[in-house]
Amino acid sequence: MVAEKSGPSFASILSIVSIVMYTGGFLRIELEFNKQKDKINQLESVVESMKTSNSDDIAQVNTILRNRRGDYSANNKTESKHTPGERFTFDKQLVAGLRQKLCQSNTDKCSHGPPGPPGPPGPRGERGERGRRGNKGRTGNKGDNGIMGPPGRSGKQGIMGPPGSKGETGLKGEKGDTGTAGMKGAKGEPGESIAAPTVAVSPAKMTVNESKTASFQCSVSGNPKPVSTWSKLEGKSEKILSATTDGKLILPNAAGSDSGVYKCSASNILGHTQALVRLVVNVHPTISLNPGPRHAIQGSTFTLPICHVTGYPTPVVTWRKSSGLLPQVRVRYNNSALQILRVRKEDSEFYICSAENLLGKVERKTLLVVVSLPQFTSKPPSKIITFLNCRTAVRLNCSTTGDPQPIISWRKQGGQLPVGRSQQINGALVITNLQQSDAGNYICTASSASVFNVEAVTSLAINDKGGALCSSSILGSLDIKYFVKLN
Ligand SMILES: *[C@@H]1O[C@H](CO)[C@@H](O)[C@H](O)[C@H]1NC(C)=O
Ligand SMILES: *[C@@H]1O[C@H](CO)[C@@H](O)[C@H](O)[C@H]1NC(C)=O
Ligand SMILES: *[C@@H]1O[C@H](CO)[C@@H](O)[C@H](O)[C@H]1NC(C)=O
Ligand SMILES: *[C@@H]1O[C@H](CO)[C@@H](O)[C@H](O)[C@H]1NC(C)=O
Repeated sequence: MVAEKSGPSFASILSIVSIVMYTGGFLRIELEFNKQKDKINQLESVVESMKTSNSDDIAQVNTILRNRRGDYSANNKTESKHTPGERFTFDKQLVAGLRQKLCQSNTDKCSHGPPGPPGPPGPRGERGERGRRGNKGRTGNKGDNGIMGPPGRSGKQGIMGPPGSKGETGLKGEKGDTGTAGMKGAKGEPGESIAAPTVAVSPAKMTVNESKTASFQCSVSGNPKPVSTWSKLEGKSEKILSATTDGKLILPNAAGSDSGVYKCSASNILGHTQALVRLVVNVHPTISLNPGPRHAIQGSTFTLPICHVTGYPTPVVTWRKSSGLLPQVRVRYNNSALQILRVRKEDSEFYICSAENLLGKVERKTLLVVVSLPQFTSKPPSKIITFLNCRTAVRLNCSTTGDPQPIISWRKQGGQLPVGRSQQINGALVITNLQQSDAGNYICTASSASVFNVEAVTSLAINDKGGALCSSSILGSLDIKYFVKLN
């Protein structure tokens, strides 16, 4: 329904176009037929005019024409055996064949028709001859070198060159014959006579400062030339030293131990000789001194520690106190040792030793401490007798004065203080729970500056029989009167 409304269908349009084309095709074929009929009529008229011609040929042509005419007339309304195209082609061939036959037999009567269309291209022809040489092209890039050719022919000889450099000396020729004797020469000068060695050294003495370099020169002469050596004399032995080839002795970084005598000796077949030089090395002073402290007993003569000094030239040694000058009237030197007479408390001080020579000065100090010996202010009795049953404790007094204040200590001779039952109170030794074994010698030591000690000895005796004198509190005196022998 929709297709009807939109118009005629595609199929119906195609049918109409086919019918139109088919009708057109028939119209064209009909025109061709008419042309062919005209041509055949022309041929018939030609054949009619050729009565003199070969009757066989004419007959043959007529037969063909008849057949052809029949062929065309037989073109009834029924279907033809051939399509219109096939038949057209067939007729053209037929006409060409007829024309050929006619024209071969009677050329005069055949005139040329208009030229046909160009035929299809024929088969390729054979290769033609080689063309002529073209114009020369542009020059290309240069190619690689070719291989070397054979040597050319030898040229003519050139002109002579300059003379060459002189060659090496050739081998020595054979010895020639002896020549004739020459004239006598003039008398020569006398040769150098052989001589014993001599030695000259310089300088004969040299002084250098410590760590500097010392050097001596030893010049030898003689014939034959003598051999020279340097050595150092050390007591009775000598030490060989290495020297430079020209006889120079060099001692770098000289020390005090390099001071001494050096010997340069020379010898050849005629003898031996030597020369001595002396080297002095100035050495900076050094000091070795015990720093102390040293203790002197008040009132005594005290010798300060020795100030050991080295150096060269020998240093000058001086003493002084750190607070100033020495007490000149109480001071003297015993050799290099400084002595102070009747030392006093105020002599306790640092004493300074100073050593100086041309290279410099050095100082060291030592401390002096003057002490006064302890003096017993309370000395225990030399003997105490006590009784076991009435006494349980004993007190041994000991006290001293001194400067510095002495330190008091107790010990028991040949043993030890009663363990746990003895104690020291203000210098006094107190023994409690007295026992028989406590008998013995007790020693009180007063020590000043741990150096000077004084001692007191008390002998303790214990009597276990008595009790009569128990009222007597202390039997402290050394006096024999306190000893009461009972029974
Ligand atoms: C048409 O031609 C055919 C053969 O080509 C023939 O057999 C037939 O009799 C012819 N018809 C007429 C009416 O001539
Ligand atoms: C050594 O040194 C002292 C002090 O520097 C100087 O005065 C003296 O000239 C020196 N001596 C030598 C030999 O160099
Ligand atoms: C000098 O010191 C020595 C020991 O060093 C001694 O024997 C001598 O008595 C001292 N001389 C004097 C006067 O003190
Ligand atoms: C021991 O010293 C004390 C005081 O410290 C004193 O009372 C006592 O009498 C002294 N004894 C003797 C025997 O000197």
